[in-house]
Amino acid sequence: MFPQVRMRRLRSGKIRDLVRETELSANDLIYPMFVDEATDSIVDISSMPGVQRLPLDKVVDDAKDAADLGIPAVVLFGIPEHKDETGTSSYGDEDIVQQAVRAIKEDLGEDMVVITDVCMCEYTSHGHCGIVDFETEDVLNDPTLDILGKIAVSHAKAGADIVAPSGMMDGMIGAIRTALDEDNFKNTPIMSYAAKYSSAFYGPFRDAADSGFQFGDRSTYQMDPANSDEAIREVELDILEGADIVMVKPALPYLDIIYRIKHEFKMPTAAYNVSGEYSMLKAAAEKGWLDEKKVMYESLMSIKRAGADMILTYFAKDLARMLK
Ligand code: PBG
Repeated sequence: MFPQVRMRRLRSGKIRDLVRETELSANDLIYPMFVDEATDSIVDISSMPGVQRLPLDKVVDDAKDAADLGIPAVVLFGIPEHKDETGTSSYGDEDIVQQAVRAIKEDLGEDMVVITDVCMCEYTSHGHCGIVDFETEDVLNDPTLDILGKIAVSHAKAGADIVAPSGMMDGMIGAIRTALDEDNFKNTPIMSYAAKYSSAFYGPFRDAADSGFQFGDRSTYQMDPANSDEAIREVELDILEGADIVMVKPALPYLDIIYRIKHEFKMPTAAYNVSGEYSMLKAAAEKGWLDEKKVMYESLMSIKRAGADMILTYFAKDLARMLK
């Protein structure tokens, strides 16, 4: 009790460092990259200052920059030239992500873990994450699973180190695990976007990946932000289906979910600091309302403190530079 106890005794100078419970490291970071088949030059994404869509021949340089900064992993999103109702340019050996994976692995090898986003929304003309019944406007779960399996196998063939399904279809982890195993990719880990909420914070990403939907929304397959126990069920099922890493997304508005998942399952846990979380800090910093570096650091620290082992973030290079 006060005055014997004074919490401030441990709060200054090197003592403060000594008692710090959470430490951020470049090793925690996964850097998202957008590879655009339809451009020859680097395209700035206006709603995400500092983030760009890259043509294939610029991808390796950017991944190298990340590696030089000590970032161990990138996650790749593809923007195809051709979109159709069933997302057929998502699983060909010469499609954009497959080429990007090969290019990075050829150059960087073991020095960069290449993770691929496994989803249909960037490849479908309607922008949904699966096969659509146009009469009912339903996104059809089961027919989508086959395609997700094909996408994952094509990524693994190209050399992806980890595949990351993000479409929130029921049974997708099991279907992908089976497809990978049948093609002899038994050792390719799956990072599941296990508790993915139907969030308005994905807005800027949909500009970046050109994956906005033409009708409806994603609330029939992504989670209701009001639910927390449901996240436990989602994650539990994905673990049973063979997920190696589980993800919570978005991160900052869902720190309670990250905390619960880490404590309940003790699995390698990822959190996705999504586009809207990034853009709002950038916008406030541009206006001079927030100190960008400090709010970035505090945000990412909080995500880690909540229980995330790794963070997917557009700030990856900025933070890595700051930690150097
Ligand atoms: C789906 C996917 C999305 C994001 C990552 N993978 C968008 C969505 O579900 O609409 C969002 C990432 C972000 O907002 O930064 N392939």
